[in-house]
Amino acid sequence: MKGVFPLDKFNETDTPFYYYDTDLLRETLRTINTEAGKYEGFCVHYAVKANANPKILNVICQAGLGADCVSGGEIQAAINAGFSSSKIVFAGVGKSDKEINLAIDKDIFCFNVESVPELAVINEIAAAKGKVARVAFRINPNVGAHTHANITTGLAENKFGIAMEDMEDIIGQAEDMKNVKFVGLHFHIGSQILDMGDFVALCNRINDLQKQLEAHHVTVDNINVGGGLGIDYTHPNKVSVPDFKSYFATYARHLKLRKGQMLHFELGRSVVGQCGSLISRVLYVKQGTAKQFAILDAGMTDLIRPALYQAYHKIENISSEAPMQTYDVVGPICESSDVFAKAIDLNECHRGDLVAIRSAGAYGEIMASQYNCRPLPKGYITEDMH
Ligand code: LLP
Repeated sequence: MKGVFPLDKFNETDTPFYYYDTDLLRETLRTINTEAGKYEGFCVHYAVKANANPKILNVICQAGLGADCVSGGEIQAAINAGFSSSKIVFAGVGKSDKEINLAIDKDIFCFNVESVPELAVINEIAAAKGKVARVAFRINPNVGAHTHANITTGLAENKFGIAMEDMEDIIGQAEDMKNVKFVGLHFHIGSQILDMGDFVALCNRINDLQKQLEAHHVTVDNINVGGGLGIDYTHPNKVSVPDFKSYFATYARHLKLRKGQMLHFELGRSVVGQCGSLISRVLYVKQGTAKQFAILDAGMTDLIRPALYQAYHKIENISSEAPMQTYDVVGPICESSDVFAKAIDLNECHRGDLVAIRSAGAYGEIMASQYNCRPLPKGYITEDMH
């Protein structure tokens, strides 16, 4: 089965472009709210870095999620889309003074602080404004996730967070500062995680850290476990909504929440990944000496994941039912890594056929570049195609 696309409208639209199925996005958001809503204190934020298309942000905001931002630009994009600043958290190892100023002026819910020098700067900027900034500390839990090396973040060797052994010291330092208030701990072990055992390992580590802090009479109001739930890139037509039921149940079962404690999540890929496709046209079919190439008008500038992480995205010729042939599917960019897939079967391709590169809703449009002086791809949602 192929994805169901409004082909007539696609035929009138300049390619390449991103198409987002907002019916599927809304179904995904309903599932998140139902599954997270089963547990007291669960609070879901959307990781804006996955896709900051204003129309997508707006749909997500309407479902009531908070926003996890990693830059001043993301904070502004979230506020423009309607997210309340009281539901915004701000992470990142290198927050600039300008960004810290913006976040304090907007009175966001909390900073996820990643180092002692950063804490001192936030305290100083808040003091100059006569304000108190809420801070959580991102702790590096040294928990490995079974995912691509470029997207694991919770190992001691990664640049992210504060080492576990420095946790009590930084909490103590925050308590001595007048313009920051310690409100919680933050963790994130990586992305595209499908093995619930990785999240169990994180829960166990957090349980130990909480015990350690309680022995020193430190209480933690908020625990933020980051994001990371993966999606099924292989079967975009079969499994559309990720397994949020198991995901939230895993945390409910394994993380020992204290009374009144809030548990925050920052999900990106699993919210938007499955609802987006990059739609492109076949420019040329070229018979090489050893291979047949389908050359698309989309390239690594539009979707960099295959070139950067050797990521798999299912590709379909949505214009044709002709018998299958084998192709290397490539883009027009002057780089030999500009390849979407090698030796895959597609319905026989002809110039002008529309091709859908599936599961591209997360880290697709937002990571696009203008290399080779190419225009950025546009993004359309279901409502635009009516
Ligand atoms: N929270 C923090 C602190 C993060 O660093 C990330 C992702 C998330 C939440 C959201 O994670 P998600 O639920 O989307 O897995 N460009 C890469 C993925 C980079 C993820 C970076 N951090 C890709 O295309 O696979």
